Amino acid sequence: MNVVLSKTSLAKSSCDALVFFVEQDFKFSAAMKEIAKEYYPTLEQFLKNEEFTGKAGSVATIPVVDGKKNRCIFFAGLGKKNATKALDMETYRRAIGTVLKTVQRKKFDSVALQLPDAALFDAAPEYCAQQTTTIAMMALYKFNDFFSDESLKAKTAIAVELVADKADAAAVKDGIATGIIIGKAVNNVRHWVDTPPSHLTPTILAGFAEKIAKKYALKIKVFNEQEINKMGMGGLAGVSAGSDEDCKLVIMEYTTAKKDAPTLAFVGKGITFDSGGLSIKPAVSMETMKDDMAGAASVIAVMEAVAQLKPAINLIIAAPISENMPSGKATKPGDILRFYNGKTAEVKNTDAEGRLVLADALSYVVKHYKPDAIIDIATLTGACAYALGPFHTGLMSQHDALSEKVQQSARRAGDAVWPLPMTNDYKDAIKSSIADICNIGNERIRAGAITAAFFLQHFVDDVPWVHLDIAGTAFDVPSISYYNPGATGASVRLLIDLATHWKK
Ligand code: BES
Ligand code: ZN
Ligand code: ZN
Repeated sequence: MNVVLSKTSLAKSSCDALVFFVEQDFKFSAAMKEIAKEYYPTLEQFLKNEEFTGKAGSVATIPVVDGKKNRCIFFAGLGKKNATKALDMETYRRAIGTVLKTVQRKKFDSVALQLPDAALFDAAPEYCAQQTTTIAMMALYKFNDFFSDESLKAKTAIAVELVADKADAAAVKDGIATGIIIGKAVNNVRHWVDTPPSHLTPTILAGFAEKIAKKYALKIKVFNEQEINKMGMGGLAGVSAGSDEDCKLVIMEYTTAKKDAPTLAFVGKGITFDSGGLSIKPAVSMETMKDDMAGAASVIAVMEAVAQLKPAINLIIAAPISENMPSGKATKPGDILRFYNGKTAEVKNTDAEGRLVLADALSYVVKHYKPDAIIDIATLTGACAYALGPFHTGLMSQHDALSEKVQQSARRAGDAVWPLPMTNDYKDAIKSSIADICNIGNERIRAGAITAAFFLQHFVDDVPWVHLDIAGTAFDVPSISYYNPGATGASVRLLIDLATHWKK
């Protein structure tokens, strides 16, 4: 797919599908009259007869025959605005998703979207164009790689044109350019996550990072299992012990030319398949465990976006990547592992492996970079998925200012998060009687998402830190029109927003 600024009005566009987004009880505008004149003189009456008023979530589909070709006019409703409340951007995102999924089903080659007035959202035209572009790309994503029957593949090569006021053309062009970079990052993550686990091993994922580093001349280090062992990263090595695949630790750096710029670090969990290890998962829970590298995929793709958007910050990403498999060499429940920062953990359950690989990656980042802030992103706990369901990523932090920044980015990017409490009451849950900490929480305290966060806290020293648990949001999110069954790329938009809007 490809998004560009349209050179014509909507009525003059030769695209197969022509789309208006309207607020509830909208007035039939000049552009609509132009369309009616061109294609459907009774359009206004048709919408009235259909009782289409522009309610949020509603779509009117008007087929028109153009010679041998069927085309379509769409009206998508954005709901009501009132004196105190602007239109909701998420309603707009979902309207785009709904319309573009129909365009894709109809196998149209092209679609023109009339950008709604940004002021309706209390937003700038550039932001609106960026959001439209990114969401359009997300809506048209499909994992097609393994169908041998061509007819099962969804059409993704669709040209998207945005129709904007002349006065906004420059801003809209900028928004499209940014939107494409973000959309590509999100869809890259989805593609990596959707790829079957034997086709996306730690070596292969690390290889993608190397390719990106080469393309954008970024500094990169990829440590292999032998080096990881030698460095004393007992967590990552311990998780990988049961697997035939080599584990990797990917470290990438983006540096700005600007002096005294802040340094952010994004750290992502990269378990390319989580069987649970010797504490093996039930079959059903294992079905989607190829998604357990979504965090690592996200930070790698975010790095690629940042290398193109070039914000005035330094960014470090760290991705500990491994399989979690049972075997005669696997780490056993009862084993004690020693991490890169010298701390030890008793492994009571080998299925709580994400925190073990993150512990080494966080320790490495803290020791070598001392960043101004760390965000980690991980499909870490089933508990988080139970607590919040598929619509909010769990956010855990004891740093209010950083947490507020991340929540602002989440709102702007349309990548929903919800805070879970990190009061010290939960700290004791991960006590061990024979090591510094234990890798599972005490049953009486429960709150598995939060106790996992407290485990990670042992590895960030005093660096401001936010933990994002995407276990519920990374995969198979229902109801949201711009997603598919499969990977979502949750938190990629958020992290890019944070990196590009960072202010002291
Ligand atoms: N990868 C899983 C968490 C997960 C669950 C991600 C569902 C996506 C969807 C993680 O490694 C795990 O298995 N966690 C255990 C921890 C428990 C043993 C303390 C869990 O949540 O059950
Ligand atoms: Zn696990
Ligand atoms: Zn896992």
